[in-house]
Amino acid sequence: SQPLRAHATARNFLIGTAVATGPLSNEQAYRDTLNREFNTVTAENAMKWDATEPNQGQFNFSGADQIMASAQANGQTVHGHTLVWHNQTPGWVQNLDANAMRTAIRNHINTVVGRYAGRIASWDVVNEVFDDNGGMRNSFWYQRLGESYIADAFRYARAADPNAKLCINDYNVEGINNKSTAMYNLVSRLRGQGVPIDCVGIQGHLSIQYGFPNDLRQNMERFAALGVDVKITELDVRMRMPADSNKLATQATYYRNVIDACLAVPRCNQLTVWGFTDKYSWVPDTFQGEGAALPYTENYAAKPAYQSLHDALAR
Ligand code: G3I
Repeated sequence: SQPLRAHATARNFLIGTAVATGPLSNEQAYRDTLNREFNTVTAENAMKWDATEPNQGQFNFSGADQIMASAQANGQTVHGHTLVWHNQTPGWVQNLDANAMRTAIRNHINTVVGRYAGRIASWDVVNEVFDDNGGMRNSFWYQRLGESYIADAFRYARAADPNAKLCINDYNVEGINNKSTAMYNLVSRLRGQGVPIDCVGIQGHLSIQYGFPNDLRQNMERFAALGVDVKITELDVRMRMPADSNKLATQATYYRNVIDACLAVPRCNQLTVWGFTDKYSWVPDTFQGEGAALPYTENYAAKPAYQSLHDALAR
């Protein structure tokens, strides 16, 4: 049968994965599956601030360029991840005073977005700015600059690449809850102020133990009604290990429900999984005893979750 990307491209849809530079360099089996199945990619780590500007004004694009070259050679668009985040940002940034921090954001965005202008379809401009209660996350950005850094970051990104779609991205915003409502209110307010924000990224780090967010589609529809695109940006569905056929079947229903919801909303134009093989996933490193969150096994065998994505796209 045909790969995911053939069915996705036929319906003008982006089916993507996060890409890690290690196996991209070293492993043919990884490259084969990546390039056969996906028509868009996101750098898992290589475009984050600690990778691209480890010291002030000293940029390093080795990993980012590697991913750009691979994507171009394989006809894949690129989703940029991420410009302003509280994780994987070097200490030198965190220690700046307000004016210097604002300048650092502007220079970082100018340089990174400018380098890839015209070649990156969309950017996660700000990532994870809320706490789970729906307040603003009390990050070093917020402590030093208040909420203003968010609008500033979008404006700097638009100036650096007028053609890139600019997204706000977060987790635990799949269903309708305090956090997704805070995101909705912020996007509404920013757009009312003319801030250039084009898309909302719903990460989609799910667990079969927590139940499925059944109002996902309804949530995406309310964002779409604001006039922004919606993307599932980091889908994975973890489970307690060891995996068994029951858990994998439940996982497959989660994948199916997510892609069905996205395909039902015209503004939902992209679904990206956060890695594709269980061989390389952030989950076991973060949640002890959990894993098997992705559509392929460690040996690159398609799991029921893969079939879910395939069936929905082929329908
Ligand atoms: O590169 C260093 C290496 O030099 C060092 O020896 C090694 C020792 O721990 O660490 C390596 O860095 C790791 C990096 O991944 C690259 O592999 C970091 O420790 C590790 O913390 C980092 O984890 C990443 C995580 O973000 C960090 O915040 C995951 O790969 C990545 O999947 C994850 O992705 C995030 C999204 O960006 C935002 N949304 C949530 C998602 C999952 O946490």
